[in-house]
Amino acid sequence: MTTVLSIGATGSIGRLVVDELLAHGASVRALVRDEARARTILPDAVALVSGDLASGEGLVAALAGVDGIVLTHGGDDRTVDYDGVLRVLKALDGATPRIALMTSMGVTRETSSWGGIMNWKRRAERLVRAYGAPYTIVRPGWFEYQSATQNAVLFEQGDGTEVTNRRGVARSQIAKTLVEALFSPGAEGKTIELFAQEGDLQGDFEPLFAALLPDDEAGLAGGGDHGVGLEDEPQEVRDDVEAVRGLRKV
Ligand SMILES: NC(=O)c1ccc[n+]([C@@H]2O[C@H](COP(=O)([O-])OP(=O)(O)OC[C@H]3O[C@@H](n4cnc5c(N)ncnc54)[C@H](OP(=O)(O)O)[C@@H]3O)[C@@H](O)[C@H]2O)c1
Repeated sequence: MTTVLSIGATGSIGRLVVDELLAHGASVRALVRDEARARTILPDAVALVSGDLASGEGLVAALAGVDGIVLTHGGDDRTVDYDGVLRVLKALDGATPRIALMTSMGVTRETSSWGGIMNWKRRAERLVRAYGAPYTIVRPGWFEYQSATQNAVLFEQGDGTEVTNRRGVARSQIAKTLVEALFSPGAEGKTIELFAQEGDLQGDFEPLFAALLPDDEAGLAGGGDHGVGLEDEPQEVRDDVEAVRGLRKV
C-alpha cells in the first residue's frame, strides 16, 4: 500500500494514526480544514489537502489515487459523522481503496445520548459495508480509561457492553489497531470493539484479526451484532444504502 489518506488527521487519534502510517512506510495524505494549523500539528512528510467533510469540498482531490483511507473524524452531528462518510464514498468515484473506519462501542443500540450521534455512526458503518470496498471498522471503548498495566488490546464482537460502562482503551492502541487492520488481509470485512486488557501489546495482530467473525453482509451489520437492524433504520438511510451499493464500479 503506497498512499493513504487520513481523515481526522489533526485529531487526538488521527495524529497517532499518521505516525503509525509513516512508520509502515506509507505515503500519507491528510484532509484538513485549516492547512496552516495542520502544518503545526502534522509531520512535514504528510501532504495536506484542504477540505471539509461537512461540505464535501476537497474530497475528490484528497481521494485521487489513494490505496487506503483511515477515518477518525468526529463531529457533533450527522453532518460530519454520517453525511461526511457518504460524501467520501461518492467522491471515490467507484474506486475501492482499503478503508479503516473508527466509530465507537455502543453504536448498535438506538440512543438519544450525545445528541443521537451514535445512531449516525452506526448508519455510517452500514454505508461503508454497503459500498463494497475492503474495510475494517473499529469501535473503541472509552479513551484512556485503561489502567497502567493494560497494554494489550482486546477485540470483542457483538457490541455487548453498555456504553455507560467505561471500559477503556489507549489512543495509541486505537491508532495501532486501525493501521494494522489497514494492512491485514485477515481484518477485511470485519467489525470489532476494542478495549485494553492486562499484558503487553501484541506483536502480531494477524491472528487476532483472523479469529474474528466476518460481518453480516445481508444485514450490513457487524459480526455478532444484535442491535438495530437495517430494516429498522429510517427510509432515508436505507435509500442511501441502496445508492451507495450502486456507486462501486465492478
Ligand atoms: N472519547 C471517547 O472515549 C470516545 C470513545 C469512542 C469513540 N469516540 C469518538 O471518537 C471521536 C473523537 O476522536 P478524536 O479524539 O480523535 O477527535 P478530535 O480530537 O476531536 O478530532 C476530530 C477530527 O475530526 C476532524 N473534523 C471534524 N469536523 C470535520 C469536518 N467537517 N471536515 C473534516 N474534518 C473534520 C477534526 O479536524 P479539525 O482539527 O479541523 O477540527 C479532527 O481532525 C468522536 O467522534 C467520538 O465520538 C470517542
